Amino acid sequence: MMKRVYIGFTIAFWIAVAAIWGGSLLAPPGQRAVAQSPEPGYTLQDVAAHDSAEDCWMAIGGEVYELTAYLPQHPAPPSVILPSCGTDATRAYNTKNRGRPHSPYAASLLERYRIGRLERPATP
Ligand code: HEM
Repeated sequence: MMKRVYIGFTIAFWIAVAAIWGGSLLAPPGQRAVAQSPEPGYTLQDVAAHDSAEDCWMAIGGEVYELTAYLPQHPAPPSVILPSCGTDATRAYNTKNRGRPHSPYAASLLERYRIGRLERPATP
């Protein structure tokens, strides 16, 4: 009697293990626990393809940002920030084109829009 119970539990255990393993294999790739893929890198050429108010990327300080959603919230008029879309805007960002840096608050906002790193060193 005990032997039957033991065998029954063993079979049930291995069925459960197989079900969990099989289930994770069937899950869509995004939900599988895969090794962390390396962060995407973009070239200035990639960035340059996103140069409008409807699709605005900027490279700033060696990182790439997708800023389309932020543009309408920027305090300065669009004419100030739009020319930087699709470019390495490190200098424009660091000086506001007026020789004054953005605040730490601006830097924290910027971080939210980061999508990857720039593959080439940024211009100072
Ligand atoms: C790259 C081109 C950019 C230029 C030329 C630029 C320029 C300016 C100017 C002229 C002002 C208003 C005047 C002033 O506060 O001194 C300003 C303010 C501000 N900008 Fe930008 N900006 C740029 C990008 C950005 C980005 C990407 C962010 C954040 C995601 C940002 C966030 C802010 C904030 C929060 C302010 C309010 C003042 C501060 O906190 O520094 N700006 N910017």
